[in-house]
Amino acid sequence: MKILFVGDIYAQCGRQTLARFLPYLKRQHDIDVVIANGENASHGKGLSAAHYQEIIEMGVDIITMGNHFFSKKNPNAFYLSAERLVRPANIHHSAAGVGSRHFDINGHKLRVTNLLGRVYINELTPSNPFEALDKILESNEDTVHIVDFHAEATAEKMALAHAFDGKVSAVLGTHTHVQTADERILPKGSAYITDVGMTGPYHSVIGANIEQVIHKTRTGLALYFDVAKGPGFLSAVVLDINENNGKARKIERIYLTPDHNW
Ligand SMILES: [Fe+2]
Ligand SMILES: [Fe+2]
Repeated sequence: MKILFVGDIYAQCGRQTLARFLPYLKRQHDIDVVIANGENASHGKGLSAAHYQEIIEMGVDIITMGNHFFSKKNPNAFYLSAERLVRPANIHHSAAGVGSRHFDINGHKLRVTNLLGRVYINELTPSNPFEALDKILESNEDTVHIVDFHAEATAEKMALAHAFDGKVSAVLGTHTHVQTADERILPKGSAYITDVGMTGPYHSVIGANIEQVIHKTRTGLALYFDVAKGPGFLSAVVLDINENNGKARKIERIYLTPDHNW
């Protein structure tokens, strides 16, 4: 099974960039299933029902979330109806939606799980992601299982990936919006990358207006951030997973800048 996993889609620029590159990537890599992190897809924070629909219609099969999963108004009704959406699993039980889900996409069966880290990202007081994944695996019947671990700290992501090496097909880090160059197959067969990166404004500070972020960083004075303007770039990975045993054969990094020659 060839899976394209796209890093955090950031605002309209990210949605448009993905729409532009997606048919090309699907063709070039013979993709069976597309998963994308959509936690920043609406104006850089959260995901609206309309943008969920837009991303599905452009050819994304499954959307994962992150710490911005509850940033929009009245999220529960949307989470109950969005069948292609996976929000973080290790959050308060009163939240609607699903944190780990079985999918059947064109005959390809897989499970997708979304987890939140706890180091430097604890404003939502997520519960222990290791124990959450242990529990999910107790009743899991899917051979192919992709985990989007939405976390800030590199060591937390690496530790979780090693803890579940061989028990899931891939642990893919998201949230920092900066792609890391450490993609690999771990010793027991799980694919891993510390962070897939983001898809959105290229000339930005992780998606936001550069001058506003400089002002906040220099002065410490909190400020509203606009979405940066300008051309978009795309960060992703392509996974090749053996559907018979769930192990990863290959993980390849994709980083398409605005001047990409295609
Ligand atoms: Fe993000
Ligand atoms: Fe995030």
